[in-house]
Amino acid sequence: LWNASNIIEDSIAAVREKVGSDQVILGLSGGVDSSVVAALLHRAIGEQLTCVFVDTGLLRLHEGDQVMAMFAQHMGIKVIRVDAEARYMTALAGVNDPEQKRKIIGGLFVDIFDEEAGKLTDAKWLAQGTIYPDVIESAGAKSGKAHLIKSHHNVGGLPENMKLKLVEPLRELFKDEVRKLGLELGLPADMIHRHPFPGPGLGVRILGEVKKPYADLLRQADAIFIEELYRHDLYHKVSQAFAVFLPVKSVGVMGDGRKYDYVVAIRAVETIDFMTARWAHLPYDFLDLISRRIINEVPGISRVTYDISGKPPATIEWE
Ligand code: XMP
Repeated sequence: LWNASNIIEDSIAAVREKVGSDQVILGLSGGVDSSVVAALLHRAIGEQLTCVFVDTGLLRLHEGDQVMAMFAQHMGIKVIRVDAEARYMTALAGVNDPEQKRKIIGGLFVDIFDEEAGKLTDAKWLAQGTIYPDVIESAGAKSGKAHLIKSHHNVGGLPENMKLKLVEPLRELFKDEVRKLGLELGLPADMIHRHPFPGPGLGVRILGEVKKPYADLLRQADAIFIEELYRHDLYHKVSQAFAVFLPVKSVGVMGDGRKYDYVVAIRAVETIDFMTARWAHLPYDFLDLISRRIINEVPGISRVTYDISGKPPATIEWE
């Protein structure tokens, strides 16, 4: 019988047996899989675990601080936070092509992780949050976006020259099983049931060239949308919801004058498998509130639109 606490006990024993007294390093993204691995390994090997958390500057509002608060302060896990925002912005300057952006974002992640791992000279093992669907997907050698998703920091994402042995305690589990494990390990339900967030983060939600001021505006708009979804008990009724930054200026009136500010699109979808999706029919009053709050509270945004495109033909992300 499948039971989260049995699986945890077995995994803990297996990890201890495997790594012995060696040091283990883990790339912590704040997503469900790497978070569950962090909690599990911490329970199994405590101080032998060091996590590396790369703040790319493309995360959601306060996300970096929240990850540190939960794992480092609250759980007492060793986490090295790398503030890489400036490096990301420099690397992305002038780059407009979505797949090029994905490559740069993923590549820089690997470089930074490699640099940090290089400093931890005692580390012998690399832990990864690979889950069973990742294994199947890699084996199927899919092309296009699916491949790039995995090249970001899941299967196959490790630097080849790293000489570390792999420990992947979730390798045989499905996502819902990983979630159960996470809850059993004491991770907060909100975190375990958070909508998926793409590896390249806001990098693919800022259309075209990524710039810090755009990311800052987008973070604020997105946070308002998500906060209201929770407040109205709608967050878990949709599968994924977020804001997208459109780097075009649209006219608005302010007092006696006109102003030209940026546009934000709001996207919420309902889906089972993320392969097809329908746009969520959010209540008009709710959309009205989102629009008012964003325009009133985020200087620099003058217009809010709601994305009513299904997948297919539109993808969930805008890039
Ligand atoms: P699309 O936009 O292809 O998205 O309909 C389907 C699901 O995949 C996520 N997504 C990504 N996840 N790296 C990721 O880790 C990516 O490059 C990427 N692109 C899309 C998207 O958020 C949705 O859940």
